Amino acid sequence: MNQVHVVSHPLVAHKLSLMRDKDRSTHGFRQLLNEIGMLLCYEVTRNLPLEYVTIATPLATMQAPVIAGKKLVLAPILRAGTGFLDGMLQLVPSARVAHIGLYRDPATLQAVEYYFKAPLDIAERLTIVMDPMLATGHSAIAALTLLKNRGVKDLRFVCLLAAPEGLAALAAAHPDVEVWTAAVDSHLNDHGYIVPGLGDAGDRMYGTK
Ligand code: URA
Repeated sequence: MNQVHVVSHPLVAHKLSLMRDKDRSTHGFRQLLNEIGMLLCYEVTRNLPLEYVTIATPLATMQAPVIAGKKLVLAPILRAGTGFLDGMLQLVPSARVAHIGLYRDPATLQAVEYYFKAPLDIAERLTIVMDPMLATGHSAIAALTLLKNRGVKDLRFVCLLAAPEGLAALAAAHPDVEVWTAAVDSHLNDHGYIVPGLGDAGDRMYGTK
């Protein structure tokens, strides 16, 4: 089983409960997703390696820690993954962004690729794949597979809610990829939705239903 980090900070738990409420406005839902994105970004980057550079403060020179290596890549799975993006970019403004277009075939629930645009040297960077709902795991698995096929080795996955079924599928397909989530819910229903969940994250973000 790959490592699953449940970010149970009270601010995250509180904001997630607000998002689950079916009467939450589209604007409120989107704003909360952004805010939780920022908080999850804080956790997923917790162990980034540091290096020391010489800087001059007004009083002295010192060896000061800065994040080592190339800028990381934030990789939202379209469309709901973009809901995390602004919040994460506020914390890591120099991050690069890779857009991964996958849609879920309603009949098979399988992920189908329709768009991919990433930094040319993505293979040399830590890439954080994001999608709010880890349900069947098909989209996450497909996104991680297509990134690995392009040579990316250092991958992490961030979601808002995970179903046990999705976590198991992801661990079987990509045991090397650690997962950060705000909560693990009970199960999937017959339509592949997370229960109790919060409904369709993309529709709730953009008011499309
Ligand atoms: N995608 C969603 O938006 N919600 C679910 O519950 C499952 C997949």
